Amino acid sequence: MIYTEEHIDTGNLPEHVAIIMDGNGRWAKLHNQPRIFGHRNGVKAVREATEHSARLGIKYLTLYAFSTENWNRPKLEVNALMSLLVETTAKEVKTLNKNNIRLQAIGDLEKLPSRTRKALQDGIDRTAHNERMTLTLALNYSGRWDIMQAGRSLMEEAERTGKDFSEINEEDWQRHMSTSKMPDPELLIRTSGENRISNFLLWQMAYTELVFLDILWPDFTKESLYEALYIYQHRERRFGKTSDQLRVT
Ligand code: IPE
Ligand code: IPE
Ligand code: MG
Repeated sequence: MIYTEEHIDTGNLPEHVAIIMDGNGRWAKLHNQPRIFGHRNGVKAVREATEHSARLGIKYLTLYAFSTENWNRPKLEVNALMSLLVETTAKEVKTLNKNNIRLQAIGDLEKLPSRTRKALQDGIDRTAHNERMTLTLALNYSGRWDIMQAGRSLMEEAERTGKDFSEINEEDWQRHMSTSKMPDPELLIRTSGENRISNFLLWQMAYTELVFLDILWPDFTKESLYEALYIYQHRERRFGKTSDQLRVT
């Protein structure tokens, strides 16, 4: 089945969609090419996902681009990924501005190579005024790192203000997460057929609907986005309640 925009209820869209873009390496292998060829083609899919999310009216799109664990890959691949990031960010700023999309980044960004950090900061600064959608790249990101850094920063704050640790609540913690300025994602999409979270937004995904697609990331198109949204819109989000309770209006 091919999903089109007509399958989507535009009145019931998630505000925040997160994506684990997986399968570039396998896609390259399928085409008898080196892994970086897959990453390069993955950029097209990023463009497609970004453009069509914004067009539909999704307010936040968060893409897992490089995990803390990805440093364990061969050096050649890590370097190529970092270069691709610099290159792509610089190239896409114009389109982001044309589409009124703001670029953001989350993760332990200080550990990125300085030229990557610079390109990223430049993209963030030059799109800061846009307001249709926020595109967040998760770079050197790990869900456990995020929870850890929030805890550390909370403790520092408590020490400064004299607040008792026992008074710290969930909202306080949330304020220190790297995603404090966005709602939790209602929908997570992972491509490549892998059914795992791989240390992505652990805190934020407490009630996220998980949709795993059997395609490799470079093959992701607007139809894949529609498909994931269609699946999401046919789930019943119960938040601990019973199905009957949800039907009472
Ligand atoms: C996802 O594709 C991209 C990154 C992790 C940067 P992979 O490179 O993980 O592709 P596979 O999983 O090996 O096919
Ligand atoms: C998750 O993909 C990280 C990104 C997409 C950036 P991986 O391919 O690294 O995940 P695992 O190692 O297979 O779980
Ligand atoms: Mg992978």
